[in-house]
Amino acid sequence: MSKIILTGDRPTGKLHVGHYVGSLKRRVELQNSGDYEKIFIMIADAQALTDNSDHPEKVRNNIMEVALDYLACGLDPEKSNLLIQSQVPELTELTFYYMNLVTVSRLQRNPTVKSEIQMRNFEASIPVGFFTYPISQAADITAFKATTVPVGEDQLPMLEQTKEIVRKFNAVYGDTLVEPDILLPDNKACLRLPGTDGKAKMSKSLGNCIYLSEEPEEIKKKVMSMFTDPDHIKITDSGKLEGNTVFTYLDAFSTKEHFEAFLPEYSCLGELKEHYTRGGLGDVKVKKFLNNVIQSELEPIRNRRCEYQKNISYVYEVLRKGTEKAREVAACTLADVKKSMKINYFDTNEWLEEQINKYHS
Ligand code: TRP
Repeated sequence: MSKIILTGDRPTGKLHVGHYVGSLKRRVELQNSGDYEKIFIMIADAQALTDNSDHPEKVRNNIMEVALDYLACGLDPEKSNLLIQSQVPELTELTFYYMNLVTVSRLQRNPTVKSEIQMRNFEASIPVGFFTYPISQAADITAFKATTVPVGEDQLPMLEQTKEIVRKFNAVYGDTLVEPDILLPDNKACLRLPGTDGKAKMSKSLGNCIYLSEEPEEIKKKVMSMFTDPDHIKITDSGKLEGNTVFTYLDAFSTKEHFEAFLPEYSCLGELKEHYTRGGLGDVKVKKFLNNVIQSELEPIRNRRCEYQKNISYVYEVLRKGTEKAREVAACTLADVKKSMKINYFDTNEWLEEQINKYHS
């Protein structure tokens, strides 16, 4: 069976280093591996509207930001199809039919939805659209017959729910949909990169994210004020690694080559950690190294972004053409689905003949 990727992001802001190590970097590697027949990268604006109904302009304005971040990271429109979710109406139609295969209590048990409801203070009045977005996400994935969904760990419950919908659909209506597999980052630190302040959640309002398009001075400021071990006061003190954001970021970003280039007195991260734990290694030195690592990683991304920013009409065309192609694929799946459900009354004479036989026999 051919391997197909579908993944995406909600356009509610510029993408940050958490998106990068959690998913974007991997997507580019997968794209360039040549192992996938088709790759669809979705800007999930319709999903973003499920909890931003009051701020449609926020979603509208961030579609281009996300597209620029994608291209800047190395997603290549020749190999990866970039698309805008709301412009593929077939997805909405699939969602409507899948809704019959999911119970309210199953949605209530979805851990990601649960925590998002809490975070947004939706307890008293949950918008129905928001509540059902896992079903629409199942439509996103299955519309493209995706076999592989590279995402962060927070999306695991969505994938489980998608698999359930696929199994249920295939059991009721016959084999039609493809069951997708999630592809999580191999590196544990990349699963859930904390904010620069050590808080689990990165958010714009907390000012604790480093954006892919961030200027070098800003990156440096954020790195140099990162949360470390609060008990590591004197250089000679032994330092703790757990909960130490600087080391978590080094786990996520640093490679042997970074040590060779910026900190040759250590051969690898293990050695640096060992010295920190033993005592005698100051936070500033480690932060300076991390700053060099992140700067070297983000510089080419930022430069490419600047180039694409000069040619917004090109990016627009990439999205328009990508969405058009995506629509063709989604329309084929929708036709398969309707055929399996036998709700394709006008496609063949089958239904008409059934009715004629019924009334004329
Ligand atoms: N839920 C994803 C997010 O919050 C965005 C998304 C929408 C998605 N549809 C998808 C991810 C399909 C993977 C597959 O960023």
